[in-house]
Amino acid sequence: MRLPLFSSLLACAAAAKAQVTIYGVFGSTTTAASSQSTPGPSSTIYQTVHGPATYTGLEAYNQVYLQPPPIPSPAPANQFTISLPNAAAGMNALSVPQAPTFFGFSIEMSVANQLIGTNSSRLHVPFLNLMALIVEKAGAVHVRVGGNTQDTAFMVDSFPDGKMMEKDKEDASNPTSTPVLAFTPDLLYMLANVSSLVNCHWYLGVPFNDTANWRLEIAELGEAILGDHLLGFQAGNEPDLYGKHGHRNLSYSEWDYFGEFSLLTQAYQNDAKITNKKSLIAPSTAGGNWPVGQSVLGPEPVWNTGFVQAYDQWLSALAVERYPNENCAAIYPTPDNPPVDLIDAFPQFLTHQTGLDTVKDYLNSTMLAQTWGKPFLMFETNTASCGGFMGISDAFAAALWGVDWALQLANSNFTGALFHAGGQNVAYNPFTAPPTNQSAFHQWTIGPIFYSAIVVTEALGTSNTSRVKDLFPNDGNSLTPAYAIYENDQLARMVLINFMDDPTGANDYTANIQVGGQQFGEGNSVPAQVKVKYLLAPSVSEKDNITWAGQTLGGRFQVDGRWKGTESVQTVQCDQTANTCPIKVPAPGAALVFISDAAQQGAAAPESYSTFPTTVVTKTANTVSVDASVLATSNGNSGKDRANRLGGTSQGGANAAAGTYGVRAERAAIVSAFAGVVVGGMVMFTRALW
Ligand SMILES: *[C@@H]1O[C@H](CO)[C@@H](O)[C@H](O)[C@H]1NC(C)=O
Ligand SMILES: *[C@@H]1O[C@H](CO)[C@@H](O)[C@H](O)[C@H]1NC(C)=O
Ligand SMILES: *[C@@H]1O[C@H](CO)[C@@H](O)[C@H](O)[C@H]1NC(C)=O
Ligand SMILES: *[C@@H]1O[C@H](CO)[C@@H](O)[C@H](O)[C@H]1NC(C)=O
Ligand SMILES: *[C@@H]1O[C@H](CO)[C@@H](O)[C@H](O)[C@H]1NC(C)=O
Ligand SMILES: *[C@@H]1O[C@H](CO)[C@@H](O)[C@H](O)[C@H]1NC(C)=O
Ligand SMILES: *[C@@H]1O[C@H](CO)[C@@H](O)[C@H](O)[C@H]1NC(C)=O
Ligand SMILES: *[C@@H]1O[C@H](CO)[C@@H](O)[C@H](O)[C@H]1NC(C)=O
Ligand SMILES: *[C@@H]1O[C@H](CO)[C@@H](O)[C@H](O)[C@H]1NC(C)=O
Repeated sequence: MRLPLFSSLLACAAAAKAQVTIYGVFGSTTTAASSQSTPGPSSTIYQTVHGPATYTGLEAYNQVYLQPPPIPSPAPANQFTISLPNAAAGMNALSVPQAPTFFGFSIEMSVANQLIGTNSSRLHVPFLNLMALIVEKAGAVHVRVGGNTQDTAFMVDSFPDGKMMEKDKEDASNPTSTPVLAFTPDLLYMLANVSSLVNCHWYLGVPFNDTANWRLEIAELGEAILGDHLLGFQAGNEPDLYGKHGHRNLSYSEWDYFGEFSLLTQAYQNDAKITNKKSLIAPSTAGGNWPVGQSVLGPEPVWNTGFVQAYDQWLSALAVERYPNENCAAIYPTPDNPPVDLIDAFPQFLTHQTGLDTVKDYLNSTMLAQTWGKPFLMFETNTASCGGFMGISDAFAAALWGVDWALQLANSNFTGALFHAGGQNVAYNPFTAPPTNQSAFHQWTIGPIFYSAIVVTEALGTSNTSRVKDLFPNDGNSLTPAYAIYENDQLARMVLINFMDDPTGANDYTANIQVGGQQFGEGNSVPAQVKVKYLLAPSVSEKDNITWAGQTLGGRFQVDGRWKGTESVQTVQCDQTANTCPIKVPAPGAALVFISDAAQQGAAAPESYSTFPTTVVTKTANTVSVDASVLATSNGNSGKDRANRLGGTSQGGANAAAGTYGVRAERAAIVSAFAGVVVGGMVMFTRALW
């Protein structure tokens, strides 16, 4: 067992949680076993009939499993060559340079208290840990707090019960009956407190429901409280749906939005408390609604109003929102809109074609954004809107889809993508807290999308120079896609995906990577060896046993935000004479191949971590003095030095934490030493246990 540096619950850390293997209709999968004391997942539903899921509990913890789609006949070739130049100059149509923070998260505002913290003095430690995992790879993480709930949200000074937010109903995934949310400035202090511990940067939103009475407090205070951890304010969340969702007249058009945006800029201009006027993000259209009566999927109708030219001085970034599918009929079934058939929907998330089909609506716009000099963000995305699909959005398939989709967006010159978390009644969350009445014995649940985040973040590296290229190998077979990442103008890494599911191994593939050579006017450039990290699970339907480089965050209700197990980075010997490197990719799975010297050094190199001691003293929940160097403490990837670098701690007392400092330590952050401060009485600590 790994050292629980800090764990949400002593009880959980101590409880031995058995795993059982269920032999279902399609082979084996693992699921967390329940015991008397931990009423967790208890029954597994194998959905073998066509139609929507029949599960009626909280979707985030559903027990629905689908049979993986069959291997097509004929199957794609399982041996093929990918030739590519070593120098970026030899590769056409590389993307714009991408930052390591490309893959971020979007948190529905109404669930910020479930996911981020109860209030500014009670942050949720698993959230801090998970963000620290991204920060360790990227130096920072971008998180949006907003969504449907932001448009009618309003700020109050305080609530009589001392809470940070109140809402009038729970279901934020339901776009037409969105809860009305009231919050206090403590929400912003909470985000600031997160940023003081883990390098989170925040996107917020200006409420857009009332254009006669703008409520700009979130911008005024957001700027003041978050400072340079503030990224910008979305102005209008899917405004093209305002008509359909009853927030405006049905005739509400891109021109109406243009006019309302003008009113906002006037209010913004006149608000002396807002010092940075170029902080708005728009138009965040969902697509398919404008011009009214037509269905252009991209944001062209908005561009055609001259929006960007008119509001250039206010716009820090352009954005759209898009899910490749939707499950709204599950919430509002009508005769002409039957619920989506899960079995039919499953293959959509196991093909490269879905990303291509979805991104094509934005290719004109991402080129335009370059000419306008504006970042272009996918502000909210995930597998399917209106909650996702049980058995798909929360299965390994979604992890592979998420890697492919995020890299497709990067390849297509988006400059960031935020994957949405919506609460306990949706299936697609990257991470989910336990239901409140189970928080005493359950930990968090990780979604497959979080693994996508880790893979893509590592794939992009830290230099801000990574340019991505979709390679279409294997005759463009949609089940075996691959991407190249050029960093500092040289091939650095590749990502190879195998969307097939075949436990026999017959559809594992081997890609022979060939770098440089005469055809590119370069010398043979395959290195003597490459390093490889795998994203794996026994099946595309797996929910609990997903591993990245041999480590897992844990099955449902078992996640405290730290890796479990020992990291394993494979070394693959290449044939420099033949100039090829054979990379095997299991069905299903994804491989991140580290090719350049710099990339290979950046692939986890446990030996290069050294340790150093730091001391942290906590006095009471709100007075704390912290040795800044502990911010650089990593919770690390390898077990090797763990004994030295992670310290025991006890609640509310004097804590000692030993940190690690190594090759990537300047980008690493962990919040261990703060846990006593952060979480007050909520968290108990465990001493170093193995
Ligand atoms: C991304 O932008 C680059 C640079 O402008 C361009 O060459 C490339 O074709 C674009 N990619 C796509 C998929 O539009
Ligand atoms: C945060 O919430 C806890 C528990 O509800 C409460 O004891 C504490 O006073 C709150 N802190 C603030 C700053 O509101
Ligand atoms: C906008 O939302 C606020 C807060 O929920 C509400 O008080 C106000 O009446 C709404 N305005 C309109 C025009 O719907
Ligand atoms: C968190 O925010 C509160 C303001 O509510 C502040 O008093 C406190 O010092 C902050 N804690 C940390 C650890 O930054
Ligand atoms: C929109 O609805 C309002 C009432 O909510 C009405 O006064 C107005 O005339 C409508 N505008 C259009 C263009 O239909
Ligand atoms: C993109 O631009 C091309 C050329 O101007 C045009 O033919 C095409 O319709 C545009 N695509 C979209 C989705 O607007
Ligand atoms: C938690 O609350 C839900 C909904 O009220 C209920 O169905 C469930 O039995 C409760 N679980 C526990 C362990 O109390
Ligand atoms: C990458 O860009 C970010 C944001 O501008 C910056 O903070 C960071 O220092 C840059 N990293 C490198 C290695 O230049
Ligand atoms: C988890 O999956 C891996 C393959 O991805 C397998 O080797 C391992 O045995 C599985 N672990 C459990 C506990 O089933």
